[in-house]
Amino acid sequence: MDQTVGIALPKGRLGDKVYNMLDRAGYGCPQILDPGRRLIFENKENGVRFFFVKPSDVAIYVERGAADIGVAGKDILLEYTPDIYELLDLNIGRCRMCVCGVSGSNEIAGRPLRVATKFTNITKEYYSSLSRDIDIIHLNGSIELAPILGLSDVIVDIVETGTTLRENGLSELEKITDISARLISNKVSYKFKFEPITRIAEKLAEFV
Ligand code: PRP
Repeated sequence: MDQTVGIALPKGRLGDKVYNMLDRAGYGCPQILDPGRRLIFENKENGVRFFFVKPSDVAIYVERGAADIGVAGKDILLEYTPDIYELLDLNIGRCRMCVCGVSGSNEIAGRPLRVATKFTNITKEYYSSLSRDIDIIHLNGSIELAPILGLSDVIVDIVETGTTLRENGLSELEKITDISARLISNKVSYKFKFEPITRIAEKLAEFV
């Protein structure tokens, strides 16, 4: 069996950080420095092939075996619960999942709390653990607008620096969980490409 390891990386800032870690760990790929419009990069010498995909799609590529391993945020893993192995916390892309809104807006009583979010599963689980009734409003982006325009009482979203909240007059009201990027593996690949995959994970662990 071809032992080349297909690696799905998230496009963007997190992907750049992960690629730098892989490069330092000895898994660089010179073509990436001059990418043009190419989407796949291979280094035959160290047996890796990289694909850059939308961050929220990494887990799907890995779960279905189109990539052997990948890097995904814990937020995506908690929200979609893909059937994969989580190999390593890379300790980058650190942020937190929070309930945010105008101060006091999470304290309404007498009706379900209206919560806007992209992360409906994480949100449902959180409020169910508090035995609190909610009216969930699924949005795809610019979540911060919802409480400002009265669409929701609060939002559940990712906070990194807090700048987006501050600039929109909102604040962090409750922390649900800490988030960071994780190295994940397809379950079948982990068995059949055990050596090259564990070697990559061990090398990366030296840079965490
Ligand atoms: C996330 C999140 C917030 C912002 C928080 O959005 O939804 O809007 O980052 O970051 P900050 O605390 O550093 O301001 P992202 O940029 O990932 O894009 P999105 O709007 O597509 O979710």
